[in-house]
Amino acid sequence: MIATREIVTEARDGVLLARITRPEKKNALTVAMYAALAARLKEAETDPETRVLVLTGSGDSFTSGNDIADFLTAPPTGEDSPVFQFLTALQRFEKPLIAAVNGLAVGIGVTLLLHCDLVYARAGALLRLPFANLGLCPEAGSSVLLPQRIGHARAAELLLLGEPFSAEQALAWGLINGVGADAEATLELALAAAKRLAAQPQVAVRLTKALLKGPEAERVREAIARESRHFVELLRSSQARAALEGFAGQRPARP
Ligand code: COA
Repeated sequence: MIATREIVTEARDGVLLARITRPEKKNALTVAMYAALAARLKEAETDPETRVLVLTGSGDSFTSGNDIADFLTAPPTGEDSPVFQFLTALQRFEKPLIAAVNGLAVGIGVTLLLHCDLVYARAGALLRLPFANLGLCPEAGSSVLLPQRIGHARAAELLLLGEPFSAEQALAWGLINGVGADAEATLELALAAAKRLAAQPQVAVRLTKALLKGPEAERVREAIARESRHFVELLRSSQARAALEGFAGQRPARP
């Protein structure tokens, strides 16, 4: 089992709560954290005790996306890379998946929400997809899923311009299910929905999820593969490296 103290799980009454706990770095996701998340998803899929999975963050952030230092020193190279293993596990996960976005969500912190069945976010939480700003491109199937969910015009603003948007906007656009007054209330909304789902007949719940996702599943898998190839290539480009080094360089390494 791949263990990392930055992905903490807690099981209760058929609900597995997975919490990203690297608050000092705004829960930026490292290679080890992607590997742990992929492992947790795979275990949850086969564990009969887990009926629903809830994903949340810690501190003031859900996640600030991929760890920028990792992008520079240990970038993904192909489908075996932990980030793509995580995305595959996420996209194929057959049990209900609920996100409690307790705060800031950036990059994959937003695109992973497109694979969740229900999403709740804290009032005022900011979300952002700065891929193009960083010399990168959409991932996780977002080039297909985002315009499908919120329309091309808005998706273009978010993906081309990297415009930040709020939990309230996301709710108005139909991208998420509800807004909680604070992080605690947001998690409560997610856990209440999880509890209800865990109490329902599981065959019906999973079949309903499969039917909802089914018609698009192949197209999404193809999009993930297509985007990943471009993403891996762009990460090697001088423009992306300069943008990422710019972020990393603004913050000298701490002892
Ligand atoms: N990768 C690595 N470290 C990150 C990070 C990331 N994605 N996001 C935040 N951090 C680190 C910062 O370097 C800082 O570390 P330090 O205290 O050792 O200097 C710490 O987390 C706190 O972040 P800070 O930038 O000081 O907080 P903020 O509230 O001013 O800004 C963000 C928060 C998320 C807006 C800002 O950190 C940011 O833009 N991060 C990068 C997000 C990103 O581009 N992700 C990749 C998308 S593809």
